[in-house]
Amino acid sequence: VETLRAIQERHSTGRLAEPAPTAEQLDTLLGAADHAPDHKRLKPWRFIVLHGERKAALSETMVSSLLLRDPGAGEAALAKERGKLDRAPLVIAVATARLDTPLPFEELLAATAAAIQNLLLAATDLGLGSMWRTGDSAYDPVVKAALGLQAQDFISGFIYLGTKPDSTAT
Ligand SMILES: Cc1cc2nc3c(=O)[nH]c(=O)nc-3n(C[C@H](O)[C@H](O)[C@H](O)COP(=O)(O)O)c2cc1C
Repeated sequence: VETLRAIQERHSTGRLAEPAPTAEQLDTLLGAADHAPDHKRLKPWRFIVLHGERKAALSETMVSSLLLRDPGAGEAALAKERGKLDRAPLVIAVATARLDTPLPFEELLAATAAAIQNLLLAATDLGLGSMWRTGDSAYDPVVKAALGLQAQDFISGFIYLGTKPDSTAT
C-alpha cells in the first residue's frame, strides 16, 4: 500500500530548494536503487553524487563541453547551461557501465532504469522532490570523463533531488 502511494504520488519538480537530502537519506536512496532487478546481478549502475564543489565543477565542465560541441554558442546558451545543475541542491549522475558480459547492453540499461525508478520512489516516500533529466550533456564524452566514466558508458540520467518549494519540511 505504501509502495502504491509512492508510485501514485511521484512526480517531477523542475526546481528544488535546499536542504539537499541528508547523508542518511542518500544511503536509503542508493540502497533502494541497489534492490532493482538485475540480470546476472551485474550491478551495471554507477551513482555519482554531485553536491557542493563537485556539482559546481561539473557545471563548468558542462559549459566548456557545450562550447566544444557548439563553438558559436552565445552568452545566453552558456548561462543557461551553467545554471542547469542549480535547479536542485544535489544531483546524482547515474551511468550504465558498458560491462564485459554476453548480455545485451539493453538489459544493463533496463536494470539501471529500474534502479533509478526505485530511487525516485524512495525519494517520494522520504518526502523529497525529484526529477529525472538527460539532455545533450548526458551524451558528451567530456562530461563523461569528468565524471570518471568511459566514453562508451551511458549516462542514463541526472537525478535532481532536493526539497519541494511548497514543502514545509525544514
Ligand atoms: C530517460 C529520461 C530522461 C528525461 N529527460 C528529461 C529532460 O532532460 N528534461 C525534462 O524536462 N524531462 C525529462 N524527462 C521527463 C521527466 O523526468 C518527467 O518524467 C516528465 O516530465 C513527466 O513528469 P512526471 O515525472 O511529473 O510524471 C526524462 C525522463 C526520462 C525517463
